[in-house]
Amino acid sequence: MRILILGGTGMLGSDCKRILKDNNEIITLNKQELDIISWDGVIGAIDKVSPDVILNCVGFTDIDACETENYAVRKINIEGPRNLAQASARFQCKLVHISSGCIFDGRKLIPQPYFEDDALNPQSAYGMSKMESETAVRQNSPNYIIIRSAWLYGINGINFLKSVVKHAVQKESEVLKAADDQFGSPTWSYRLALQIEALLQINARGTYHATAEGCCSRFEYARFILDKLGLKCPVEPCKMKDFNYTAKRPTNCLLENRLLKKQGINVMSHWKKDLNIFLDKYGEKVIKDARL
Ligand SMILES: NC(=O)c1ccc[n+]([C@@H]2O[C@H](COP(=O)([O-])OP(=O)(O)OC[C@H]3O[C@@H](n4cnc5c(N)ncnc54)[C@H](OP(=O)(O)O)[C@@H]3O)[C@@H](O)[C@H]2O)c1
Repeated sequence: MRILILGGTGMLGSDCKRILKDNNEIITLNKQELDIISWDGVIGAIDKVSPDVILNCVGFTDIDACETENYAVRKINIEGPRNLAQASARFQCKLVHISSGCIFDGRKLIPQPYFEDDALNPQSAYGMSKMESETAVRQNSPNYIIIRSAWLYGINGINFLKSVVKHAVQKESEVLKAADDQFGSPTWSYRLALQIEALLQINARGTYHATAEGCCSRFEYARFILDKLGLKCPVEPCKMKDFNYTAKRPTNCLLENRLLKKQGINVMSHWKKDLNIFLDKYGEKVIKDARL
């Protein structure tokens, strides 16, 4: 397959490049080469590249900044995907678009997960923009896969795991606070890239949930990282409200990979298993980078 990866410099996009390059022809265009908010740019680029698949890993992903940067959020998270969806229709290729668990209100009782067909009710500007992006994709592309994920970590990009390590390394004696009332499934972007590959291999269509198996609170997640890396920084549980975030986060961000399992193509692992592998492989690098 000829796959055009957009957002290839980001956390998920860089892992997708790594995974998909073995059995496919990969073309990547960075933001300077193709700004997805430009309709003319998108149409011209897709015409020229003529891909079988457009993989959209682009996003305005700073959840708090989304509350105030309304113009950029609309352009990048909604109009960009709409441009790509229209291009996928015009040039008859598949669009793979990444959405988020933030489209749900997070009020289900823990540990009940959200299913693909549960009602959407985003509580933040980011969640709202991801919900609208899904609508734009469904309305404009006849051949799409929407993949909802959550709590991503990886070796590239900014993520919770790196923030925890940075705190532990730079403020070793200062207590790290992490919420014990917010739940999710820490998901390795590399594993999600493998799942995307599996979906492409069967020429899947539709909306899928794809997160790691099992669940934990932010506090358990932080503790696991520190213990595994032997970092001595003290960690204490707190509540989400203690952080005074600008954007509201879902308390329950658990997504069930129901459709992947039904179709026998779920490659997602338990969060602890993947996090162990990730920290064995990249722990030292993450610590070294955190010292910079
Ligand atoms: N992170 C998570 O926990 C999470 C969870 C669920 C879903 N998602 C979704 O997964 C996708 C990827 O997330 P991520 O965390 O990997 O993102 P990321 O690391 O923030 O990377 C975003 C990418 O988008 C590019 N980009 C931004 N604006 C662009 C534009 N106008 N035109 C072209 N490229 C542009 C960035 O390029 P530059 O680096 O040049 O700015 C970067 O390569 C997003 O749709 C996000 O909403 C993320």
